[in-house]
Amino acid sequence: MAGSVSESEVRKAIRKRYRRVASSASGCFKYPTGREAAERLGYERQVIESAPGELPESFCRVGNPFSLGRIFPGNAVLDVGCGAGFDLYVAARKAGDGGSVDGIDMTPEMAAAARSNMARAGLDNVTVTEGFFEELPYDDCSFDVVISNGALNLSLRKQQSFREIWRVLKPEGRLQIADIVLDEELPEEHVGSLEAWSD
Ligand SMILES: C[S@@+](CC[C@H](N)C(=O)[O-])C[C@H]1O[C@@H](n2cnc3c(N)ncnc32)[C@H](O)[C@@H]1O
Repeated sequence: MAGSVSESEVRKAIRKRYRRVASSASGCFKYPTGREAAERLGYERQVIESAPGELPESFCRVGNPFSLGRIFPGNAVLDVGCGAGFDLYVAARKAGDGGSVDGIDMTPEMAAAARSNMARAGLDNVTVTEGFFEELPYDDCSFDVVISNGALNLSLRKQQSFREIWRVLKPEGRLQIADIVLDEELPEEHVGSLEAWSD
């Protein structure tokens, strides 16, 4: 429990919110989203331009995890809270045919959008799973790099999420996350607010 809300209530609120965002993030957040935000955060223009259809418009993250370290050809990469899959697309281009990319997201519409976006991009080395990052369905030491963008802040059990990420990373693996953090006390009216938890 966090404030007076339970994990199942927060998950329900998150699913409700991200169901809407699955096709376009436009107008859904206080922070910049879409193609312009991706460019501003340093994603390569060529990669943005080559992404299929609406994929860049689904961009609703807070930073650029690829700026924290290189993904090499042949790497196994996992994106936790992958959303509609823009970062999966970027990672798959970097990991190449010899690499593999997995994405996990708990909102069925997001996982479905990511799968269809990867199919449209012709990427067959990307696997999208519907599930929770507090209980990752992967073997120990499976990934060279775990990325995440604007997702882990939504977990009520952050330590458990990090334990799981640590478990599935290879010993020399890296975690590259972009996320939002509190740098002051949460205003009273947001404590226990489902709207704030799912924002
Ligand atoms: C702000 S969006 C980030 C989108 C994504 N990183 C992208 O590339 O577009 C947060 C995502 O995290 C997912 N999420 C939130 N809590 C989760 C959890 N406990 N387990 C798995 N996914 C979760 C939501 O369904 C949503 O798609």
